[in-house]
Amino acid sequence: MRVLVTGGAGFIGANFVHQTVAERPDAAVTVLDKLTYAGNRASLANLESVHLVVGDVADREVVDPLVADADLVVHFAAESHNDNSLRDPSPFVTTNLVGTFTLLEAVRRHGVRYHHISTDEVYGDLDLDDPAKFTPSTPYNPSSPYSATKAGSDLLVRAWVRSFGVEATISNCSNNYGPFQHIEKFIPRQITNLIDGVKPKLYGAGANVRDWIHVLDHNRAVWAIIEKGRIGETYLIGANGEKNNKEVVELILELMGHEPDDYEHVADRPGHDLRYAIDATRLREETGWEPTFKDFRSGLADTIAWYRANEAWWRPQKAEVEAKYAAQGQ
Ligand code: NAD
Ligand code: TYD
Repeated sequence: MRVLVTGGAGFIGANFVHQTVAERPDAAVTVLDKLTYAGNRASLANLESVHLVVGDVADREVVDPLVADADLVVHFAAESHNDNSLRDPSPFVTTNLVGTFTLLEAVRRHGVRYHHISTDEVYGDLDLDDPAKFTPSTPYNPSSPYSATKAGSDLLVRAWVRSFGVEATISNCSNNYGPFQHIEKFIPRQITNLIDGVKPKLYGAGANVRDWIHVLDHNRAVWAIIEKGRIGETYLIGANGEKNNKEVVELILELMGHEPDDYEHVADRPGHDLRYAIDATRLREETGWEPTFKDFRSGLADTIAWYRANEAWWRPQKAEVEAKYAAQGQ
């Protein structure tokens, strides 16, 4: 099977490529990645069999021949960070919307199976005490330019299935953690701050809740949907991992040998979503998928060990990332 992975030099995509090469010897993997600030060639080191094409998913000339040569497209490429989307929404519109449109047109022309990677943030947020979780029928209600462009990309996929018969599935996953995550994101930012002797930074009071899942479990669910999912359907991926940000920071501090209150409150994110929570019943019932990382504490300990062991991977970005946050009081 020839698999085209877009965004395969980013966090989740790189893990997907490593897992696919290790677990599916019949898969020939090509990565299409623009290598933006978030893409890193080093995340694909030692994968001689993987062909990396550096290019833009919104560029039809690049996309068309790659899709023509594939049996399956798994579309991870995106501008993915909410805080960046508040500073400059423009690349979010181009990559997330025009990029998805460009891929959909190519899979339509060439009759190629497509899986679309999306986020639970398309559903907006929940109150802290709301007993409900997001389900595939929750109305879309995105808050930020990031989540709005992801929501728009999902709706394009649904329309291309209905209007043109494209063979596609969509997955909306909760917050991922694990190796190869860019250090602008919450968990790796705090781990690398502590390695540098800097206090973790908590937006606002730290009451916001995210539903954490290990990246390897996300990607196993993606393969389960590709193999067992129904065409045209949306599957929510989550592992019942709700924690507020303060709890996560306290756990990172404890695991790294610090006092649990040794963090700083910084300026909150404008429009900050309060809580995300996933009901993954459809995924579990239809595909039999179950998360393998059931203990957040040990998954987080592994992730901390990875950042300690791979300083050469993240060090070049650290000063610039922190300078951007400092400029906005974070
Ligand atoms: P990331 O920012 O780490 O990686 C994105 C990758 O896409 C990078 O390698 C980047 O170079 C590449 N890219 C960006 N623009 C491109 C373009 N125009 N053409 C080609 N490549 C381009 O993101 P991630 O965290 O790995 O997220 C991957 C996908 O998963 C995204 O679609 C995101 O919305 C979704 N998602 C992420 C999370 C999470 O917690 N990180 C949760 C749910 C869903
Ligand atoms: P993030 O990793 O940016 O993911 P998302 O916005 O997609 O959920 O942030 C996760 C949570 O952590 C979110 O509530 C914002 C918060 N946060 C902090 O408290 N401090 C930080 O330094 C960062 C980057 C995020």
